[in-house]
Amino acid sequence: MITIYSDENGDREAAEQLSRQLGVPIADGMGELTLVLDGTGLSLAGYGMRYQGDFSRMLNRVTKGRLHHEMLVKLAKTKAEHPVAVDAAAGMGEDSFLLAAAGYEVYLFEQDAVIAALLQDALRRAGEDERLRGIVGRMHLSEGDSIALMPRLGVTPEIVYLDPMFPPRKKSGLIHKKLQLIQKLEQPCANERELYDAAAALHPKKIIIKRPLNGALLADKKPSYTVKGKAIRYDVVVL
Ligand SMILES: C[S@@+](CC[C@H](N)C(=O)[O-])C[C@H]1O[C@@H](n2cnc3c(N)ncnc32)[C@H](O)[C@@H]1O
Repeated sequence: MITIYSDENGDREAAEQLSRQLGVPIADGMGELTLVLDGTGLSLAGYGMRYQGDFSRMLNRVTKGRLHHEMLVKLAKTKAEHPVAVDAAAGMGEDSFLLAAAGYEVYLFEQDAVIAALLQDALRRAGEDERLRGIVGRMHLSEGDSIALMPRLGVTPEIVYLDPMFPPRKKSGLIHKKLQLIQKLEQPCANERELYDAAAALHPKKIIIKRPLNGALLADKKPSYTVKGKAIRYDVVVL
């Protein structure tokens, strides 16, 4: 069970608001899995780990000419003046951040209310950082199931991005600490076909699907082409 804990530096009112929003109780101390509100913002703690979304950690990937080496950014290359992307499975928004850094206006959907709250808080903090403000200003998060919400978007994006699951990985390290904690909240995607169909119904130019390197196709959809990285691959469906 998740609880919320706010220490003496945390905003008690914000904790109460979050408790109402998520239907999660406030506790006097840390539990097994705890949303912690303190002077640094919102983080998730448990099992001896702590995770907080922090887009400043991604600055090295988007500066000094490195952004255009990102596989996703290469695949998303467009001539559109004001390109729009939809991230239908936002997670902690890192891939969306790359797209936003590349100039995309990105509409993000995240169905898990706790992950969405962690992401919203990371976006809020990034908005206070002048190095990140311009990028996260192009990221628009909605909490909820993208299958239900995408049809109401009212824009035709260049791309829809689908990365609906975290495959477990073996290596250790910071990113894996994040994966382990966030994975405790994630539900596996049970409706890949509906997710794909809702993405296609937006009539994007491309649907870009992130998969584990040797993972099965999403919804059995044969891609127009595939690009492989070390641990993941992108299946691209050109529509
Ligand atoms: C692997 S993570 C995405 C990671 C993300 N690409 C990033 O860079 O941080 C998948 C996320 O998609 C969410 N998700 C899966 N299906 C969804 C749906 N139909 N609508 C909204 N979110 C969904 C899950 O809750 C999970 O947080």
